[in-house]
Amino acid sequence: MADLTTNFAGITSPNPFWLASGPPTNTYGQVAKAFDEGWGGAVWKTIGEPIINVFSRYGSVDLGGTRMMGFNNIELISDRPIADNLKEIAEVKRNYPKQAVIASLMVESKRETWHDMVRRTQDTGADGIELNFGCPHGMSERGMGSAVGQVPDYTCQIVEWVKEVATIPVIVKLTPNVTDVTYIARAAVQGGADALSLINTINSIVGVNLDTFEPQPSVDGKSSHGGYCGPAVKPIALHLVSAVAGDPAVKIPISGIGGIATWRDAAEFIALGAGSLQVCTAVMHYGFRIVEDLIDGLSNWMDERGHRTLADVRGRALPRVTKWEELNLNYHLLAHIDQDTCIRCELCWTACEDGAHQAIRRLERNGNGEAGNGKRGPVVEIIEEACVGCNLCAAVCPVQGCITMRPVPNDYPAVGWKDYAAGRGKLAPRSEHFHTAAWSAAPKP
Ligand SMILES: Cc1cc2nc3c(=O)[nH]c(=O)nc-3n(C[C@H](O)[C@H](O)[C@H](O)COP(=O)(O)O)c2cc1C
Repeated sequence: MADLTTNFAGITSPNPFWLASGPPTNTYGQVAKAFDEGWGGAVWKTIGEPIINVFSRYGSVDLGGTRMMGFNNIELISDRPIADNLKEIAEVKRNYPKQAVIASLMVESKRETWHDMVRRTQDTGADGIELNFGCPHGMSERGMGSAVGQVPDYTCQIVEWVKEVATIPVIVKLTPNVTDVTYIARAAVQGGADALSLINTINSIVGVNLDTFEPQPSVDGKSSHGGYCGPAVKPIALHLVSAVAGDPAVKIPISGIGGIATWRDAAEFIALGAGSLQVCTAVMHYGFRIVEDLIDGLSNWMDERGHRTLADVRGRALPRVTKWEELNLNYHLLAHIDQDTCIRCELCWTACEDGAHQAIRRLERNGNGEAGNGKRGPVVEIIEEACVGCNLCAAVCPVQGCITMRPVPNDYPAVGWKDYAAGRGKLAPRSEHFHTAAWSAAPKP
């Protein structure tokens, strides 16, 4: 049975699934319930001088039938008194000694203020501290949150102040709202951070009401940019986690955050270097109970694949993240359409014809089984000499597995652009169609 126990920068938890700082970690009652249901850890809703929140604070993006594909908020840090939060953190830690309890902190950028806050936090018995340098709205206008996390010198400075008094591990939570996250990650390392977590939310406006012209979420007719999260941000988070995990100047543990909702998401973050995982939006959508599926799914997959511990998986995909110029130009793919499962919807033809490389032909308009197998509609077929293996047809096809991409073997050794441009290595022959207007070659309906 796979062992999910986690040791993250010295913080231990029964599994790698932690609640991210946010509404689900606002109170003792919530965190205790989450631990009862199986969560391995929790990062408390960010604590600081209490603030005043606006009413109407979340915005949502639906996609087709999927609700909350993307989620946005203009909420600030905890609006509860510091003392209440610290008292409850101490209580949770006392009652759940095995789970990881992390306090997320954000105070004004003064050395004494940070020292005082860190000392008070440590008195609770919390396992670690997360510095919220990522909040993109409200607090940043007051010189906190992403106002710190967007400037390497500020990041380094505050981590140094915190480390002057910290006796427990310090995790620095990074903002994605920067041009290159590795600069900030390195600054945190330079300041003495024990670990990093990312991503916090992405600057966003989720929509505009076209009757009233109010941006969403509207507060008495107006809105401000807020933080984007949920499934929509996972690809961005995976990239940023891999960028930091693959940076030789960053050799500290990374907690992966951003759009995690299933065990597969979790496994992908681990494969790209995450040592623990944090979840917010999926819990706001479906509740704490999702942890059961996260744990079962990850353990089953690890058992099936023979991975005994998380260390067996961590970072396994990282060596495969490379620069474009090192990708093999002699790796050729061809799309293949399975005529038995094709439903003759023509989506692949339309997408390829108008939006890509004109590499699919239609054989028979309104065919009645003549060229196909009794199904109505035209038979679609790959024009092999025009196909550049781009994946678009497979991506748009509504039938899972109907269009597959198949490698076309050749005898040419792998060569990347960098070597090829320097005169090292040869290109396997490519069809003339790649460079001509194949459009005119494709039969029209
Ligand atoms: C409503 C809401 C409030 C949040 N509040 C905080 C916060 O107080 N401190 C913090 O570090 N992150 C906060 N976050 C960011 C999350 O911890 C997390 O980084 C982000 O939502 C991405 O993860 P997800 O896609 O699983 O939600 C908040 C997110 C949401 C949706």
